[in-house]
Parts: sequence; C-alpha cells; structure tokens
Amino acid sequence: MNTPVTESSATKGFDVRRAGINPNLWYVVARSSEVRDRPLGVTLWQQDIVLYRDTQGQIHALEDRCPHRFVKLSRGAVVGDELECAYHGWRVGAAGQCTCVPYLEPNQKLPTSTIRRYPVQELDGFIWVFPGDVKALETQAIAPMGVPEWDHLNYIASVTVIDTQAHFSYLIENLMDMYHGHLHQDLQAWASAELQGIEESRDRVDVHYLAQSYYRIDKIWSVSQLFFPALRRLHPEPLDVSYAYPNWISRLGNDFKIYCLFCPVSETHTRAYLLHFTSLNAFHRLHKLPVPFRRFVKNRMFNAAEKLLIGLVDQDIPMIEDEQKAYLENPDRRPHELNRALVSVQKLIRIQAEMGNG
Ligand code: FES
Ligand SMILES: [Fe+2]
Repeated sequence: MNTPVTESSATKGFDVRRAGINPNLWYVVARSSEVRDRPLGVTLWQQDIVLYRDTQGQIHALEDRCPHRFVKLSRGAVVGDELECAYHGWRVGAAGQCTCVPYLEPNQKLPTSTIRRYPVQELDGFIWVFPGDVKALETQAIAPMGVPEWDHLNYIASVTVIDTQAHFSYLIENLMDMYHGHLHQDLQAWASAELQGIEESRDRVDVHYLAQSYYRIDKIWSVSQLFFPALRRLHPEPLDVSYAYPNWISRLGNDFKIYCLFCPVSETHTRAYLLHFTSLNAFHRLHKLPVPFRRFVKNRMFNAAEKLLIGLVDQDIPMIEDEQKAYLENPDRRPHELNRALVSVQKLIRIQAEMGNG
C-alpha cells in the first residue's frame, strides 16, 4: 500500500550521511556457506556478532564478547553446542550463558552474567540477524525479506560481496540511480534509462525506468547473448528498481533480477551481497525435465555472472568512496542531484531512521 510520505519537522536538518539504521528489521550478515564448523565474526551497525552452528546444524548469533574479559569469541572454537573462548577456555552456550570455566575451584560458582543473544534465521542461502527490539519482533511479526529465487530451479544465481568504506546511503543511491550507466558502458545489460515514475511508502521506494536492453532471453539459444555481444539487439524493457528498506531489488524485463542485501557496518563502512539471477522461466520445455537434472544445471551454472558482478562493483566502489571522502572533508558542501529518485531514497532513509529511534 502506498501512503503519502511527509517530512517530519523533527528530522529537519537531518544528515543522511550520518543516518542510523532501523534496527527493527532483519539484516543479512553472511552467506549460509560461510558458517561451517568454526565461529564467524560479523559486524552489523557497530555491533560485533559471532555466528556458529551447533551439532544439529542450527545457527546461533551471540554478542562477540567473551563474558570473562570481553575478547572476541569468534577467535575461539565451536565445541559441541557451545563456543569456547580462545583465551582461557571459558565456554558459552547458545543462550549466552557461561557453561564452563576450566579452572573453577570447588568453592567457586560459574559466573551468571550472560552475553546478548540475537534472533537469527537461516533462509534462502543467507544468515539473517535481527538487531532490534525483541518485543517488537514478537508483537509485530516482522519477517526477513528472503530471496525466493536462490533455491528456485528456474533461476541461475550469481553472487559477490560489496565491501566499501562508505555510508550505506551512498551505496543505495548508486543502486537506485540508473543514470550512472555511463560508468558501466562495457558491462551493463542495458542503456539509455529514462525515469518514468516513482512510488513512495514508509517501507519502500519503487522507481520505474524504461531502458534499452541488449538481451532477450526467450529461446534457449538466446542465452548465448550473454557470451557473444554480436548476438545482442537493443529493445525497450522496463527497468524497475526498488529500495525495499534495507535492501535493494531490481528487475530488467522478465529475464534478470538483481538483489543487494545490505549489512551496514558503521557510518563509514558498508558490506552487502550482490545477487544476480537469470530467469529460465521462458524455457517451458526445460521445466518438464527431471528435477535432479534441473538442479544439476542450476548448480553447474552457479556464479556464471560473477565476473560481471565483480566488474560492476569494481567500477562503483571508487565512485562511492570518493563521495564519502568528499563528504568527510567538507560535510556542508552539497552535491547537485537531479535524479528525483534519490530524493525519495533519502526521505525513506530518514523515515526508517526515525522509526528505529522509536
Ligand atoms: S577472555 Fe574469554 S576465557 Fe578469558
Ligand atoms: Fe553501478
């Protein structure tokens, strides 16, 4: 539902480059495959979190601080269903409680202080953490966005990581601004985007562009356009980009879908996973083949577009980091922005930051 978005007087003078996140949402912090038999330390908006799997394969997320002397538990090891700190070998259970001190004397009791436990879910190939108010989570039934194409047999997935020394607002503005195709002329699937319309709500901004696409994936052989530029023919396709706060989703016609799953680390550091899906929906005959074969095709083609994604990211990051540097050098100097979509994006960041402040 689209509700008109109004600017709160409480946020006048709000600086989007220092905006906080709305913590009452689920954030992707890692890929499932990154969490195996060792603890993994991640940082979500200045909070160090350790992820680990217990003996059942269940994921847990705890504050990455040993209750003893606050060193990082992610330097330690997984022992059974618990984490063991590297320093003195104290152990911590999944609820954040201390379960063992190797040198406890007979007249001493285990410390009762606990470390913070985060709600965590493993969904569609990623680990999602909820850093906000657990009461809000329970009462408002807030669900992670999910990425249904990740396991779907009709989509070929590719993924890469974006790690940039910049506020998340610079990355989302880059992704919502289709006029920066200028930067990617050699890599992009489309050209000549034109802004057609914007829809705003308190949760998302949807921006509709019309672009000239190079690809039309309607016959099985047309996939070869991805590899042979001479086979490409420009034709108009809708190019829709959405800031589904805190993440980004884009669609080019029916053939391509790209997600960017945001993990804001700090005011000047953002990590994100960039996911590219090529749809096989148009190939009806393929859908009649046995599922194990389709699974084989999907797995074999996994990361077919990885080089393309890395190329795009390598071009974008210096732009984003230049913007961040220029801001830090002179925060009062305002850039000249002509793309209306970015005004909507900044408004949404402001609204969500306000919602996060309660
Ligand atoms: S700091 Fe972790 S066991 Fe001592
Ligand atoms: Fe880009």
